[in-house]
Amino acid sequence: MRETWTARMWRGQTIRTRSDVVRTEHIPYRPAPLTYSLAALRWSLWTVGMLAWGAIYIPAAGAALALLVLGGLLAGSWGLVAAAVLASLAGRLWARFWPVHWQRWGIGRAHRFWRRLRYRWSWDDVLAASGVKATDARHNISVPRLLWVSLGEHADALHVQLCAGITPATLAAQTDALASEWCALEVRVQAHPWRPGWVLLRVVYRDVLADDPAATAGPTDFRWLDVGRCEDGRRWWLRLMGTHILIAGLTGAGKSGLVAGIVKGLCPAIADGRVRLIGIDPKGGMEYRMYSELFYMLAYGTDDALVAALEAAADLMAERANQFGGRIRKLLRPTTTWPLYVLLVDEIAALTSFIANRELKERASAALNRMLTQGRAPGVVVVGCIQDPRKEVLPMRDRFGYRVGLRQDSPDEVRMTLSETAYDRGARCDLIPEDCPGIGYVIDDDGARREPVKVRADWVPDAELIWLAAQYPAPTQVDVPPLAAKNRTPVRATREDKGRAA
Ligand SMILES: Nc1ncnc2c1ncn2[C@@H]1O[C@H](COP(=O)(O)OP(=O)(O)O)[C@@H](O)[C@H]1O
Ligand SMILES: [Mg+2]
Repeated sequence: MRETWTARMWRGQTIRTRSDVVRTEHIPYRPAPLTYSLAALRWSLWTVGMLAWGAIYIPAAGAALALLVLGGLLAGSWGLVAAAVLASLAGRLWARFWPVHWQRWGIGRAHRFWRRLRYRWSWDDVLAASGVKATDARHNISVPRLLWVSLGEHADALHVQLCAGITPATLAAQTDALASEWCALEVRVQAHPWRPGWVLLRVVYRDVLADDPAATAGPTDFRWLDVGRCEDGRRWWLRLMGTHILIAGLTGAGKSGLVAGIVKGLCPAIADGRVRLIGIDPKGGMEYRMYSELFYMLAYGTDDALVAALEAAADLMAERANQFGGRIRKLLRPTTTWPLYVLLVDEIAALTSFIANRELKERASAALNRMLTQGRAPGVVVVGCIQDPRKEVLPMRDRFGYRVGLRQDSPDEVRMTLSETAYDRGARCDLIPEDCPGIGYVIDDDGARREPVKVRADWVPDAELIWLAAQYPAPTQVDVPPLAAKNRTPVRATREDKGRAA
């Protein structure tokens, strides 16, 4: 009981009390002068604090302020004037000769600091005016409390504590009003990463993901791949080692584009033999044949070939695990002797549900499952694309620690592919516009990041892929072995066999 009472005390902030309502409780009397002095003290402390913080946060403003104080102290009012002239001249020169630097450390920082002040100043009024307020039994009106603000270059995160009567949905219903008040592009409500009862308001000012992608990415490591951009303007580093990657999206959502980005990042490591690509392309090799020189093994065409390649990869993994004899608990560091196998599957559902022959289908699922459960430590990474997240895929979902949800049809599909809570945490894959392929949300379970991050993959043109394939061919290439006959009793003829017989 006591706990509930304390919690109520601290949640939300009272912004108005109706004096015409007769209260039944004792109100502590505080003389007006004391109230006013306390308020004045609070405001002056806040102003001094903000001034000091502003001077540190915007180094240019801090330097100008210091110059003014120094000028004033040394030479009175003439000193002040001289310092002001000097400061503005320095600012002009800085902006003229180092515009990028000026933008970043001067204007950009001032903008952000201004945003922080504006959130604080307007918070009560904006929320109350938008209807995000609750009235308690004593007619006190409360709004959620703004705890603190994390400023980003193009998007800010506001940590908000909800009050009684206000749910994340109440806030989500008013995000348009908030966005228009703060002149933002979009405001999203996300679950708070640490605390129930709090939410994260993401206020986005510029949709960097809708801009044209950067021409080329910088040098890449094969363990973390630089494949695109995040919403806050930083690079999107995709985790490759120690996890499996699931890429879900409708046709044209950009699945193959992202896979091409991954392949591009791996190229140098493929050429020096530290990474071996195994490609499984159920669409007759439409995608992967374009850059077939990069593959260690490439399977397409018949179902037999696809399953044989899957089993070969699973056997490779088992063999390696045996060689290590259970001595690998941690991640294997890929070398030319112990290369990392990256298995690319263009459509997982084609293997787990669309193969007509039941036995083949079961063998495919079994091999895939083996790799998904045991592949990480021996250095086998599965990168699987999926278009149709139906229940066949569900049991496997959790074994993919790194999941990317591109454009999808409905919230249910988002829940199926990313996680049960992803949609409520802000992964709105169903709202991604059709003309923005490559945009999606990422969940990195293995990296302990369950909060979806909005990203966009860089586009790798076909011509560049063909050039990369000629430039970085795989040193070893093997054919898909014939499908092992073990356990294989031809229960019934496949469609293909029937065709041939006819
Ligand atoms: N990251 C991206 N940035 C810009 N355009 C992209 C991106 N990814 C894909 N596209 C465009 O969308 C089209 C379809 O993408 P694709 O990757 O083939 O989709 P999927 O494999 O999901 O069906 C591509 O031909 C390309 O023009
Ligand atoms: Mg595709």
